[in-house]
Amino acid sequence: MSLFRLDASIFPATSSSRALADLVEAEWLAAHPHSTVTRRDLSLDPVPATAWPDAVTAPGVPEAERSERQRAAVELATVIADELTAADALLFAVPLYNYGVSQHFKTWFDLAYTDSRIDPQGTALHGKPATLVTVLGGNYAPGSPREGWDHSTAWLRRVLEDVWGLDLRVVQRPFTLVGVNPAMDAFADTAAALKSDAEQHAVRSGREIAAAHSARVA
Ligand SMILES: Cc1cc2nc3c(=O)[nH]c(=O)nc-3n(C[C@H](O)[C@H](O)[C@H](O)COP(=O)(O)O)c2cc1C
Repeated sequence: MSLFRLDASIFPATSSSRALADLVEAEWLAAHPHSTVTRRDLSLDPVPATAWPDAVTAPGVPEAERSERQRAAVELATVIADELTAADALLFAVPLYNYGVSQHFKTWFDLAYTDSRIDPQGTALHGKPATLVTVLGGNYAPGSPREGWDHSTAWLRRVLEDVWGLDLRVVQRPFTLVGVNPAMDAFADTAAALKSDAEQHAVRSGREIAAAHSARVA
C-alpha cells in the first residue's frame, strides 16, 4: 500500500502547505501503518521546463531519431505516471504563487498528462482518493477586495477532480502571510481561525482518504 505525496513549496523549511500535508499524511499512516510514502518535492527536484514540449513532440519522431532531451522527457513522464498509478492515494501540497498555478506544478502536471495512462482517454487515476492542500498568502474570499484573484485553486480542482477523475478533497488555508507581513497585522484573529479550520480539515481529510481506500479494496 502506498501514498504518493507531492510538495511544491519553494521554502520547504517554513512551509505551511507542508505542515498541513504532514497532518494529512499522519492520518493516512495512522490508518495504514504499513503504507509506504512516495515523495516528489518540486523545489528540490523540479521538472525541467523543456520536458513537456519534448515529451509531446517525441512520438512524432522515429525512436532512433529522437533527441536526448526527448528521450529523457519521455522517461521522466513514465516515472511520474508510474508514481501516480502505483499509489493507493494521492496528496498534493501546492501554494499560490503570483496569483496563478505555480509554474513548477504546472510543468509536472503537463508532463504527467503526456502519459497514455493519464491522458484524456486514460482511466488509471479514476476514483483514487486524494487531497489537495493549497495555501495562499492573502485572502480572496467572496467580498474581499481581491476576490477572484486566486487563479490557482479552481484550476487545480478542475484538473485533479474533473480531468484526472480523482476522488478529491481540497484543504485551503488563506492568509498565511499574516504574521509575516506587518501590513496584514489587522487580520491576525481571522488568520488564526482560518489556520485552525484548515488544520482540522486536513486531519479530517487524511482520515477520509484512508477510509476511502479501505472501502475501495474491501
Ligand atoms: C514568489 C512568491 C509569490 C507569491 N505570490 C502570492 C500571490 O500571488 N498571492 C498570495 O496570496 N500569496 C502569494 N505568495 C505567498 C504564498 O502563497 C504564501 O507564502 C504561502 O504560504 C507559500 O506556501 P508555503 O507556506 O507552503 O511555502 C507568494 C509567495 C512567494 C514566495
